[in-house]
Amino acid sequence: MNAFRDDVLAGKVVFVAGGSSGINLGIAEHFARHGAKLALLSRSQDKLDMAVAGIVAAGGEAIGIAADVRDFAAVDAALIQVQQHFGNIDVVISGAAGNFVAAAKDMSANGFKTVIDIDLIGTFNVLRAAYPYLNKPGASLISITAPQAVKAAVYQAHVCAAKAGINMLTQCLAMEWGAEGIRVNAISPGPIADTEGMARLAPTPEMEQKVKARLALRDYGSKRDIADVALFLASDNARYITGTIIDCDGGSKLGDATLPELPPRR
Ligand code: HXC
Ligand code: NAP
Repeated sequence: MNAFRDDVLAGKVVFVAGGSSGINLGIAEHFARHGAKLALLSRSQDKLDMAVAGIVAAGGEAIGIAADVRDFAAVDAALIQVQQHFGNIDVVISGAAGNFVAAAKDMSANGFKTVIDIDLIGTFNVLRAAYPYLNKPGASLISITAPQAVKAAVYQAHVCAAKAGINMLTQCLAMEWGAEGIRVNAISPGPIADTEGMARLAPTPEMEQKVKARLALRDYGSKRDIADVALFLASDNARYITGTIIDCDGGSKLGDATLPELPPRR
């Protein structure tokens, strides 16, 4: 089977938490082009309505349900709606996240907790709530993590801690749920163009250039780069892959790839 055929996800039911914008919406739109039925979840019904309208206008099938991933009961209720509308779920993308740039000494306990709650506990809530409604065997669960999970960063203590937790949760759930034919993986995007995430981390052209200059591949990635990896993980071509964090990051995880001037040869 060719993973890049147009109908590779034909008839598959895909639930995307945090699917109303950015990278996660890029995944949803790409999956719709490959035949999937999409259920998007985020807090804002207005954003969801726009996202759904875009997918439908392009010939896809989608619904949008407003809920906060910090609220397990609300996520569960959304998943029941999805199951009633489309049937059991084949693919879950857990990508809801929050970020702001702040020094740890200036961050309130609630500021730190807010990002842990959305990113890490939200991911547990989404994957755990989805469990009863998954098609087993065969389901593919994909969380969106970040290089900060394995590479410390200043002003990102909350995100580093939350995303590190997502990486470990991915591996633990892969071990517990693999026997039922559920695969659990994550994608770690590097800096991605035209996203809220990079608008917050590098808001000026000068900051953007500095970020690019430190990357091995010297450029931002695109939403399509991440969607291609997600499509692979969602497809049967990845049938023997679980518990893996796939870096799609231009080398971001490797660290600063600026090439300094060579010292004179001795
Ligand atoms: C310090 C801040 C802050 C800031 C919020 N807080 N912004 N502290 N600096 N810039 C504090 C608040 O003061 C408050 O603490 C606590 O955080 C909760 O703030 P609320 O505004 O009440 O939270 P909420 O409405 O739940 O909004 C969550 C949010 C918001 C994360 C703060 O920005 C949001 O909704 N973001 C979603 C979109 C987003 O961030 N997208 C980017 C994802 S990219 P106190 O103590 O005052 O009550 C990403 C990066 C990955 O995840 C890596 C990229 C490479
Ligand atoms: P984004 O556009 O802000 O996407 C975040 C999504 O999550 C939105 O749909 C948002 O919609 C939703 N959301 C936020 N808080 C929520 C909550 N409490 N409950 C439910 N939904 C919530 O950001 P992005 O930059 O594309 O990031 C998407 C993912 O990629 C995140 O997991 C992020 O950590 C990861 N990532 C991004 C980059 C990058 O370069 N941008 C790099 C590495 C990793 P509502 O506002 O409607 O809730």
